[in-house]
Amino acid sequence: MLSILVVFILCYLVGAIPSSLWMGKIFFKVDIRKHGSGNAGATNTFRILGWKAGTIVLLFDFGKGLLSTLVLSQLAYSIGSGPVSFYEGWDVDSMLLILSGLAAVIGHMFPVYANFKGGKGAATACGMLYGIEPVSISVSLALFLILMFSTRYVSVGSIFASLIYPFSQLFLRYGLGWDIDGSIILFSSAIALGIIIKHKGNIKRLLNGTENRIQSFKPSNG
Ligand code: G3P
Repeated sequence: MLSILVVFILCYLVGAIPSSLWMGKIFFKVDIRKHGSGNAGATNTFRILGWKAGTIVLLFDFGKGLLSTLVLSQLAYSIGSGPVSFYEGWDVDSMLLILSGLAAVIGHMFPVYANFKGGKGAATACGMLYGIEPVSISVSLALFLILMFSTRYVSVGSIFASLIYPFSQLFLRYGLGWDIDGSIILFSSAIALGIIIKHKGNIKRLLNGTENRIQSFKPSNG
């Protein structure tokens, strides 16, 4: 149990690194949360600081999630007596992966280094879910890209990609008989719901026609 808690705290602390905020403050002397959508995330970094800074932040945020599930979660096996499942119906390995990823996403959304005001978690969730099961997140990513480029709203892509994610997993498990643990379906659905809730400001802007479109992104700020 102790090993799991240590790993969760570690994943939270990595997920909480506010890359967009620090990128803005250190290299551009700009507080990203006071511009554009006000979100401390990759999309707003593209929008305000340009594509180079946006790409770095996007990769960094994706990497935080991937690192948590692929690497940090495995540390639990080398600490103390190793991980145990919280619920006897869950596979220990799967539970450890998904909860480590969840800790990273919570860190990104509520970072201790930035007064708990973080981003919406989409890139970090994408990275951590790739570290767990690549097929359903690839379906979400494909939908995200199609919707983002066809509507020119990043938020529309993020919301619908999150929405479809649990259904892809349910289809893989019950439709195709894949061995996907209940803990992964449960907690990845919670993450998808959390991302959608974090988009409530975007949903309001979409409904009243004031949401930012991709064309408003700056080409580059150097
Ligand atoms: O993943 C975040 C994106 O969907 C929306 O970002 O800055 O337009 O609120 P933003």
